[in-house]
Amino acid sequence: VSLSVNMGNKKKISDKLVGVFFEDLNYAADGGLYAELIQNRDFEYTSNDRREWNSTSYWKSSNGNLKIESTQPVHKNNPHYAVLQKDEQLQNEGFDGIAVAAGEKYNLSLFVRSANKGSLSIVLIDSNGTKVSNEITIAANTSNWKQYLAVFTANTTVKHARLSITAKKQETAVDVVSLFPQKTFRNRKNGLRADLAQAIADIKPRFMRFPGGCLAHGNGIDNIYRWKNSIGKLEERKPDFNLWGYHQTMGLGYYEYFQFCEDIGAEPLPVLAAGVPCQNSSHHHQTGIAGQQGGIPLNEMDAYIQDILDLIEWANADKNTTWGKLRAAAGHPAPFNLKYIGIGNEDLISEVFKERFAMIYKAIKAKYPAITVIGTVGPFYEGSDYSFGWDFASKLEVPMVDEHYYVPPAWLINNQDFYDKYDRKKSKVYLGEYAAHVRGRPNNMETALAEALYLCSVERNGDVVEMTSYAPLLAKEGHTQWNPDMIYFNNSEIKLTPGYEVQKMFGNNAGEEYIESSVTVDHGNADVQKRIATSVVKDAKTGDLIIKLVNLLPVETTVDVKDLNLSNYNIAKTVLQGNPDEKNVKPVTTTDVVLNNKLVLPKYSFTVLRIKAN
Ligand code: AHR
Repeated sequence: VSLSVNMGNKKKISDKLVGVFFEDLNYAADGGLYAELIQNRDFEYTSNDRREWNSTSYWKSSNGNLKIESTQPVHKNNPHYAVLQKDEQLQNEGFDGIAVAAGEKYNLSLFVRSANKGSLSIVLIDSNGTKVSNEITIAANTSNWKQYLAVFTANTTVKHARLSITAKKQETAVDVVSLFPQKTFRNRKNGLRADLAQAIADIKPRFMRFPGGCLAHGNGIDNIYRWKNSIGKLEERKPDFNLWGYHQTMGLGYYEYFQFCEDIGAEPLPVLAAGVPCQNSSHHHQTGIAGQQGGIPLNEMDAYIQDILDLIEWANADKNTTWGKLRAAAGHPAPFNLKYIGIGNEDLISEVFKERFAMIYKAIKAKYPAITVIGTVGPFYEGSDYSFGWDFASKLEVPMVDEHYYVPPAWLINNQDFYDKYDRKKSKVYLGEYAAHVRGRPNNMETALAEALYLCSVERNGDVVEMTSYAPLLAKEGHTQWNPDMIYFNNSEIKLTPGYEVQKMFGNNAGEEYIESSVTVDHGNADVQKRIATSVVKDAKTGDLIIKLVNLLPVETTVDVKDLNLSNYNIAKTVLQGNPDEKNVKPVTTTDVVLNNKLVLPKYSFTVLRIKAN
């Protein structure tokens, strides 16, 4: 095999190629990245979330029958609360138990109301009822709601702790019972689970798209994700059902998404519905309730568009503006500097969609011409194409469009020329969702290497493809609606897949300059040739030259690198290698590698050479 690199032929490519797509799917938000440990903390679970759920779900009362009221709520968006009787003990089991570690601290917050002098005793217990933390006593002596804060220290490590609240003296009402580990990612309040957030940060994503996916446009127009319901005080946020069959507290809301993006150096990329819900509305939802089809009525579109314009003001405007003020009050006086906004998600390119998309697009363009609007070209099925979506986007001159495809590994192997054929004068591409996808099967080295091959071709086309994000990102074990995913987790562990390692290797070895290169199998047919690929980029910041080589062949392959004259350079080599069905594979990095004439690519491997500038 010979590798040729033509240093004289280079082009500028996107510096945002590898990002992440966070969708609240598979318990990615509540019970996942959002570090809240109490499930149904606000007693707002309903049968719209899941047929068998109600305000008492995940709470267990020693009376067997928990009293729920709604006459004097903490806030109208949060109407239900629990009323504990004297000596009643209430337990919350968290999301599959509350995992606590000995010596760690946990912040408790709850709202309490008691007409007479009440008192609550609160403690963490294990599944046998043994205390695993200090006990906190709260004097509940106010007839108006009052928030109490306290800190627990766990004295034992247990995976399935519970929070126990006992009313000692009088009937006492409680609501928005919240428990967070003190250690969250970057120690943010109302923060994110540190290990999961760090795994995402480690990819070095250049952007993050959120909150979906199908979740963004929802199951029917009433379920469209409304960003305004997701900001402000927790007790004032408006929960909603999640079309993937569970509940959204909105605790992980727009402020938290933007803050996370800033913390990890990723551009925020919010996606808002194009005035239409998911075309599959009635299919997704566990309850079987059909979402209202069609779009937001035209006479309500102005208000809907105003909400989108308000988001841009909230993110970017001075702290003295109406919406900028709310951002500042939440803790971020400086603008977030939003540059991208997605409108629509994989929508059917119907007349209803087109009319509403065009209204939104024109309004954003008129008021905020510097914002890049990312449109959608609809769903993709093997054998179909995106021509309806592309025709529409081209007519409107939408600057960038979002393409999605979940395809078998063979599709990625056989279509490495997909973007070579794209018209450079049309819209740029955001490959917003993709995966080598064998439905129901976890990803493995075969899918990961097919993605690596394909990403080499994407780098080659980094002048037309601006951004990419693998999907889905997160999946909680036992609560997974979609497989495969990039990162699996439970309450105390995270499991990184080979697909994750490929994303991380690309994210950590990005460049803004693409250098013409090819790898040629000297004695092989086209099928063999397709299973080996290269991409060479230069990282402008460090000046390093980065060579990526994928070998999806079942044999070790030796590459002739004599002509590159690398013998005097300091090289770091990272290799991800494993048989096609392996799922637990880690890359190995060797520094100070000396490369004279030959480079060996192990069978089924992805190699990154980082050639240091000095
Ligand atoms: O990533 C899972 C789903 O796939 C997304 O919600 C949707 O956009 C696509 O159909």
